[in-house]
Amino acid sequence: VEGGLWCGVVFQELCACCAECAVGCQCMEDTHSVRCVSASLSRIPPALPKNTLSLVIRGDQIHQIHQNCFNGMENISTLELTNNGIMELGSHAFSELRVLRRLDLSENRLVLIHPEAFSIPGSPLQQLILSGSLYNSTSVTDLITALRWGALSSLLELDLSGNRLVLLPPGSFSPLPSLRDLSLANNSLVAVYSGTFSGLERLRDLDLRFNAFRAVSSEALRELEKLGQARVLLGQNPYSCSCEAQEFSRWINSSSSQVGDADKLLCGSPDELQGVPVRMLSSRSPGCYGKANAGEADVTLQTSYVFLGLVLGFVGMIFLLVIYLNRRDIEKWVTDLHAACRDVLEGYHYRYELDSDPRLRNLSANSQHHLRSEPLPPHASSDARTTQIPSDVTL
Ligand SMILES: *[C@@H]1O[C@H](CO)[C@@H](O)[C@H](O)[C@H]1NC(C)=O
Ligand SMILES: *[C@@H]1O[C@H](CO)[C@@H](O)[C@H](O)[C@H]1NC(C)=O
Ligand SMILES: *[C@@H]1O[C@H](CO)[C@@H](O)[C@H](O)[C@H]1NC(C)=O
Ligand SMILES: *[C@@H]1O[C@H](CO)[C@@H](O)[C@H](O)[C@H]1NC(C)=O
Repeated sequence: VEGGLWCGVVFQELCACCAECAVGCQCMEDTHSVRCVSASLSRIPPALPKNTLSLVIRGDQIHQIHQNCFNGMENISTLELTNNGIMELGSHAFSELRVLRRLDLSENRLVLIHPEAFSIPGSPLQQLILSGSLYNSTSVTDLITALRWGALSSLLELDLSGNRLVLLPPGSFSPLPSLRDLSLANNSLVAVYSGTFSGLERLRDLDLRFNAFRAVSSEALRELEKLGQARVLLGQNPYSCSCEAQEFSRWINSSSSQVGDADKLLCGSPDELQGVPVRMLSSRSPGCYGKANAGEADVTLQTSYVFLGLVLGFVGMIFLLVIYLNRRDIEKWVTDLHAACRDVLEGYHYRYELDSDPRLRNLSANSQHHLRSEPLPPHASSDARTTQIPSDVTL
């Protein structure tokens, strides 16, 4: 009986100790932080200390976040839910977290983002990390709606890197008046349009590295100019150093305080300029390297000319072969033609009343007349003579 009681006491104590921290999680009393890393969780565990300040749940299988997931942990200021396969953020998913400053949702697969997913009374959010969070680029529309409805007036930092974004609607960031740091690195952006960055009055850092910019149009340059003293990173893009790049090249120098990595902007094409810094373009050569893709077009054109030449040569050879095989018929045809001509010329002969051997005289007179009236290149006249030979022979 005594042994059983002892066991019971130990068991009770164990329960008291562990009830506050869920299986697979580490609860640090001193820092009030909780970490649940690769703990095979499929939801936010309910049994976590209510006074938690920092909650990290990483590498688990939590597919949805809804309003009542956080169970009164009202003092969380840092929430990291990375690499959990999260697909859905419900309405007011974080609205219990009245002092949430930093929200990291990197490496998830967000398909559904409720327009009010980021709505938190008092708008405490300062950092929103959504790196590699979106399932595909379609979700960006939902995200931008949620940013607008969330009224994130205190947001200082937004990370949208690695989301395969292709297009950003104009005014996407205008609901974020306090934003200082915006990362759009490692996406598939090809252009900046007028209005892309409108409303970002306080921006200090803009990261556009590792995108698909080939050219930076004058429209884009004007849009970047509007960012005032913000530091813009534009490296690691496949710039096409054609004629159109000249303006960009000059702009980099004139606002080099703005372009933070001016020396890392390298030409990706054409081949002969690969690796050349874009800012060196206008000093390297006063001329212009032709339109974008001009090199490729030239090669295509040359190829088609060569092909055309080959085809024509082949046709010519077949033609010559046919002539050679039918040389007897042709000889006969030329003879007939000659006879016909002779008949006609005889008619002329009667008209001009020429004496002795009318056929030959008439023929030679005619061919001389022909040579005089239109001077032919030497090979052409020799050709004319060779075609005459068979007719002379038959005469
Ligand atoms: C949250 O913090 C406040 C102020 O420090 C404190 O009074 C309150 O008890 C805390 N809430 C919880 C659930 O621990
Ligand atoms: C993104 O995923 C959704 C859901 O699977 C799909 O309907 C949509 O066509 C996808 N969009 C793109 C651009 O692949
Ligand atoms: C870029 O984003 C892709 C996902 O879109 C990710 O797999 C890759 O690691 C990222 N690269 C860098 C350098 O961040
Ligand atoms: C830009 O600056 C670099 C180095 O300061 C210089 O070599 C280059 O010629 C300049 N380019 C233009 C277009 O002024």
